[in-house]
Amino acid sequence: MFQYMITGGNPLVGEVVVGGAKNAALGIIAAAIMTDDVVYIDNIPDVRDINVMLEAIQEIGVTVERVDRHAVRIDASTIHSVVVDDEFIKKIRASYYLVGALLGKYKHAQVALPGGCAIGSRPIDQHLKGFRMLGAKVDVNSDRIITQAIDLIGEHIYLDVVSVGATINIMMAATLAEGKTIIENVAKEPHIVDVANFLNSMGAEIKGAGTDVIRINGKTKLHGTEYSIIPDQIEAGTFMCAAAISRGDITVTNIIPKHMEATTAKLLEMGCEVIEFDDAIRVVGTLRQRATPVKTLPYPGFPTDLQPQITTALALAEGTSVITENIFENRFRYVYELVKMGADIDVMGNKAIVVGVQGLKAAELSAPDLRAGAALVLAALSAEGLSYVKDIEYIQRGYENFEDKLQLLGGNIKIVAVEDIGSTTIGDSIRPIKIYK
Ligand code: UD1
Repeated sequence: MFQYMITGGNPLVGEVVVGGAKNAALGIIAAAIMTDDVVYIDNIPDVRDINVMLEAIQEIGVTVERVDRHAVRIDASTIHSVVVDDEFIKKIRASYYLVGALLGKYKHAQVALPGGCAIGSRPIDQHLKGFRMLGAKVDVNSDRIITQAIDLIGEHIYLDVVSVGATINIMMAATLAEGKTIIENVAKEPHIVDVANFLNSMGAEIKGAGTDVIRINGKTKLHGTEYSIIPDQIEAGTFMCAAAISRGDITVTNIIPKHMEATTAKLLEMGCEVIEFDDAIRVVGTLRQRATPVKTLPYPGFPTDLQPQITTALALAEGTSVITENIFENRFRYVYELVKMGADIDVMGNKAIVVGVQGLKAAELSAPDLRAGAALVLAALSAEGLSYVKDIEYIQRGYENFEDKLQLLGGNIKIVAVEDIGSTTIGDSIRPIKIYK
């Protein structure tokens, strides 16, 4: 068991290079098994969720060659099973992409029900609706999704909920369906466009990714390709927020600034200086930023995956901000930890009322999920004194070398074994949080 030991108080200053998008890579690795030709993918982040996905496809016979830390060669001609049910795949969300990929290619898939961060109930009814409309029989038992079709036939599918996962999953299955599929009310996140571009580079015919309607002309088979994954918009946004939280000056490089517009807009409203370059953004924090409202929405709205990070910045801003979480119903659990540090935040249903304070105090913290974990690390880096963040496995699911990148920015953070720290007296809770339902 490891945790972060953090001595906070320094502004974070310098340049940080962002890696490939985890959520795009998860979809793309699943899509790569839809051909029997060899596929080469680079700019893959070396994070836990990706490694679980790569191991899961190896379990069903796919040959995965690690060309280097960020590149793989995938050969799915050796698949011997459509049953994906290993111990680890159950823990990641994106396991569901293997349903769309295997169903498209083999018209049969049996995949463990998805896990992922506990941020809400996270139903998958829209994925299943799409598969059924394409002609598949779908059963869900206590631990598996079982789906089978004689043929998949293109359909006109309307999503009742704008869902990233359902959009990608149905798009994958429809790529190898017979005839034309139209999917309406789809999600528009950059990684949806990236998965569509990847499939198109394999010979798929997908149009409209990035708009509300995706049109697909089904193909009988796909071919090999070489592809480089887009930069991670959420990792980039995390470091942009880090500049605001630490009142520092960070240039986030290897990114697509267009993908960051919602984050840039909010940081500007808070009074940060934000300078855009072709493939980088520099954020300069001020001594005291201003409050601003934030509502999470599907892209191009403010991403739910950056909600804990911006809330942490607003916990230190002048004035009262209202944060409205519109995507996941249980995404404020980290607020308890910020309150331990002296933040003044109350949660009312899907809203957090944040009254900015001058500074946070060091504390013993625990990461409740991936993005909230990252936000708590940034909070600890801003707080004078020694903090600990436990349960860092969550953070390692989606951030590569997080501590190394923060160290390069001047952050005093290291990984220590939990038993190394002995007993500490830091971080007593100072104020009970009010929860209104
Ligand atoms: C993906 C991302 C996650 C991000 C989220 C929203 C991956 C692996 N994960 O998750 O990091 O936070 O998008 O940007 O890419 N919903 C339904 N029925 C469904 C599917 C979704 O009601 O069948 C609801 C969800 O409960 C949620 C909303 O739709 O309220 C959006 O979820 P969705 O976009 O599907 O999120 P994920 O694909 O799980």
